[in-house]
Amino acid sequence: MTPPPHLDQVSACVFDAYGTLFDISSVARGAQDALGERWQVLSDLWRSKQLQYTWLRGLAGQHADFWQVTGEALDFAMASLGLEDPALHRRLMDLYLHISAYPEVPAMLARLKAKGMKLAILSNGTPAMLAAAASNAGIADRFDAILSVEQVGVFKPHPSVYQLAPTHLGLPKESICFLSSNSWDAWSAKAFGLRVLWCNRFGQVPERIPATPDGEVTDLSTLPDLVTI
Ligand code: LAC
Repeated sequence: MTPPPHLDQVSACVFDAYGTLFDISSVARGAQDALGERWQVLSDLWRSKQLQYTWLRGLAGQHADFWQVTGEALDFAMASLGLEDPALHRRLMDLYLHISAYPEVPAMLARLKAKGMKLAILSNGTPAMLAAAASNAGIADRFDAILSVEQVGVFKPHPSVYQLAPTHLGLPKESICFLSSNSWDAWSAKAFGLRVLWCNRFGQVPERIPATPDGEVTDLSTLPDLVTI
């Protein structure tokens, strides 16, 4: 998949949060002094369990918010590594609220805003988690909307989550460009009907689920050159 030269007639760019705007690995890396070399293993296991729990809760009809799910996934990951340390658990959860944005994000958002593009976040995160992350990264004022799955009470990739973007922005699906580094999220947003660029930060192979995104970028720095109103 190669990126299109341009996506035109785009009125809004809507971003996934964790892994796309915010660097998930920065969380466990922030406690490297306590975790040592295990920070990376913990980080990967924590993320993978967190996502599994969102999908499992969705299928089972047992929604709990992303703060709870993130804490439960961290419990599992720490126990798997033999880490029984409530203070470290609290510290890692607090670090999740102070997660770092990827370096290109602030300038990229400023360039899109200057073009008159509407900007939003659409994430599994709770409103409080997303507000804290955006505010700590100094990008909160860039967004016209910060949309949380808590408004519909089910996690991605349920179609009602992706519907939040056209509903709240007052725009047709086809005029919204969705960006996600989580490939399953990018594919599912495309299946819903948004236009999608996959931010393939980690050189992953394409998914085999409906439906293939419109293009691929390796980070978000070129996005303002790829979308026009
Ligand atoms: C989110 C998860 C998928 O922010 O990273 O919605």
